[in-house]
Amino acid sequence: MAIVFHEASKVFHLYNQDISYLIRIMENGQLENLYYGKALRDRDDFSYMHEEAMRSQMSINVPEPGLLSMQYTRQEYPSYGTGDYRSPAFTVLQENGSRIVNYEYTAYEILKGKKSLEPLPATYVEDEEEAATLEVTLHDQVTDTDLILSYTIYEHYPVITRNSRFVHKGSEKIVLERALSASVEFIDTDYELMHLSGAWSRERYVKSQKLETGIQGIQSLNGTCSGAEFNPFLALKRPHTTEYQGEVYGFNFVYSGNFLAQAETSTFGMTRILMGIHPECFSWELKQGETFQTPEVVMVYSDQGLNKMSQVYHRLYRTRLMRGRWRDQARPILLNNWEATYFDFDEEKILNIAKKAKEVGVELFVLDDGWFGARNDDHRGLGDWYVNLDKLPDGISGLSRKIEEMGLKFGLWVELEMANKDSDLYRAHPDWLISVPDRFESHARHQYVLDFSRKEVVDHIHEMVAKVIRESSISYIKWDMNRYMTEPYSKGTSASEQGKVMHKYILGVYDLYTRLINEFPDILFESCASGGARFDAGMLYFAPQTWTSDDTDANERTKIQYGTSMVYPIVSMGSHVSAVPNHQLHRETSLATRANVAYFGTFGYELDLNLLADKEIEQVKEQIKFMKEYRELIQIDGDFYRLKSPFEGNETAWMVVSQDKKNAVAGYYQSLNQVNGTWIRLKLDGLCPDALYEITYDTTFDTPVDPEMMAVYGVKIGSDPVKTYQAYGTELMYAGIPINRDLLNRKSMDFSSLLFMITQVG
Ligand code: DGJ
Repeated sequence: MAIVFHEASKVFHLYNQDISYLIRIMENGQLENLYYGKALRDRDDFSYMHEEAMRSQMSINVPEPGLLSMQYTRQEYPSYGTGDYRSPAFTVLQENGSRIVNYEYTAYEILKGKKSLEPLPATYVEDEEEAATLEVTLHDQVTDTDLILSYTIYEHYPVITRNSRFVHKGSEKIVLERALSASVEFIDTDYELMHLSGAWSRERYVKSQKLETGIQGIQSLNGTCSGAEFNPFLALKRPHTTEYQGEVYGFNFVYSGNFLAQAETSTFGMTRILMGIHPECFSWELKQGETFQTPEVVMVYSDQGLNKMSQVYHRLYRTRLMRGRWRDQARPILLNNWEATYFDFDEEKILNIAKKAKEVGVELFVLDDGWFGARNDDHRGLGDWYVNLDKLPDGISGLSRKIEEMGLKFGLWVELEMANKDSDLYRAHPDWLISVPDRFESHARHQYVLDFSRKEVVDHIHEMVAKVIRESSISYIKWDMNRYMTEPYSKGTSASEQGKVMHKYILGVYDLYTRLINEFPDILFESCASGGARFDAGMLYFAPQTWTSDDTDANERTKIQYGTSMVYPIVSMGSHVSAVPNHQLHRETSLATRANVAYFGTFGYELDLNLLADKEIEQVKEQIKFMKEYRELIQIDGDFYRLKSPFEGNETAWMVVSQDKKNAVAGYYQSLNQVNGTWIRLKLDGLCPDALYEITYDTTFDTPVDPEMMAVYGVKIGSDPVKTYQAYGTELMYAGIPINRDLLNRKSMDFSSLLFMITQVG
């Protein structure tokens, strides 16, 4: 890995064994993006890659006879108004009303390692040899402002991270009306734009569309979160790129609030990617001496398809974004009472559920919504972070102690950023809601957003929640957030600062997380937002796991988890076995399939185990035993491979392979049974070609169709034991595991699944 500056040709070259990124200082002092992609051999002069041509209506940015035009140049951080008519990366409003700037190169610095962006979340290094950072300083003379563009390249990952920083030195105030984190330009438009989008309970479906001339993009204007509709991730992939071959460029925003991510293709065949805080409702006044730091964008390049890109994101995020004690630890198997009781519980009911959970091997009991204030339904109580003694007479301290005495850890749900109007908090502080005076306050789920842009609000909530934690024995916190922002306005902020409110709100959330993490470093945090509306890299810096979706149906979950795995590691995905009929879809799936899907995540249960039959309880015990044996491989050690996409057919398959390739586990899921089904071969990946493996799987299933009817077809239910055979890595990867779908269809109901355990034996 190196970052070099070639003085004579004025080109910076950032490269490692996989990627190269070339930046040139242009004749007008601004920065040009010469190349981003597969690694190039370094040389003194790459400036031949600069393109110029005389064109009609072209505005030229250098004295005659020069031809440098911003309109036809690929730039590092473009502005509007000097001849480039595409979307800019930033806009600076000045006191005289002008928005014209000219940031010219003044200096550069190459640093070992990577700077922290705190209070913003960002990837980090543990040893400064792991990465190198280039900071290029540009200066606008008229406003007397520095713009520092920062690039970090990792030694062992095809990763470049970017951010930008404005340092205002001038005496006139300036207003940043747009300050995105990164702009990257590509030399052609032959790409598909891939992103993850959806809605509540169907988050992060994989979408791809061919790039067309003009602007196409995704965004969040939700204020409180990155959102269920679009994830702050997009990728440019070649049309023929698959999971395992072809080029793809990933862009992921390490931020949890409003974002804009767009691709703009010009009629001159260039593609510009922009990513950063959404400019809508954003304006940031800088006075002399003040600085604005944009959040980080993590760019991953792969020339081996989508799966390689995902594996890079997974490992980088698991080891260099997540932090704290839980980063390298397999996660406890939990039972959450939400779908078991909703708001309807008391201590006795909770202890009964916990007791059964302990009996089957669960390690952590999580008490969800409804334990505080007057919270007997979702109309009231949010904001009152003290226990409801009618439900829990011994308080959270008493309950947590009793649960711990059973041999379980105790976890608690909170939703700290919200208030119901029917709450003591709102009655005492009606001006603490985000809303505009004299205007209607929109509501959602009967609740309102607290103004976390104000320190006194964060302080107050912090005191309340920290007191509960201090007085009790709490090992896990589920931090929920259940509504988007409306009427963004802070009553504690001046008119000229209102454009800062939405970003400061997110900084307030990060601040509260930081205080709680610092005081309670052993607590495992799980973030949540109406299911998976805040599944982003910003959150993973604070909470190493996220509730993936409120949809706990196993078949739907294959899509949600598959899409989420494009960027986010398996260990970050909250995944539970819930009751049937499923509470979101009323669908019946077998207990085996529900677990087979949930294994590829944090794994837990969200039902009242007391309602299961004895046979099912035995099955749950086996499932927990399995997960305890395999969770280190699945969550920490292994690499994840997507094998069959639920977005392309009736089947899903994926697998995890250990670093040493000695162990693997694969899941195969079929949605609907198909009569007279054919055999298929499930081709695995990531194994050692010459190693001999033993493959074990269970062919008995757990919801067979009527045995008597099957006997008519000559199928003996329950007659097939667990199947074991041996095969070399080459056979498993190139010939595949033969699966008799006809047998599967006859023996099992819809939504069947198979789990393969693969162990090297020679
Ligand atoms: C939304 C979450 O996604 C659910 O898991 C649950 O915690 C509810 N909120 C509680 O209100």
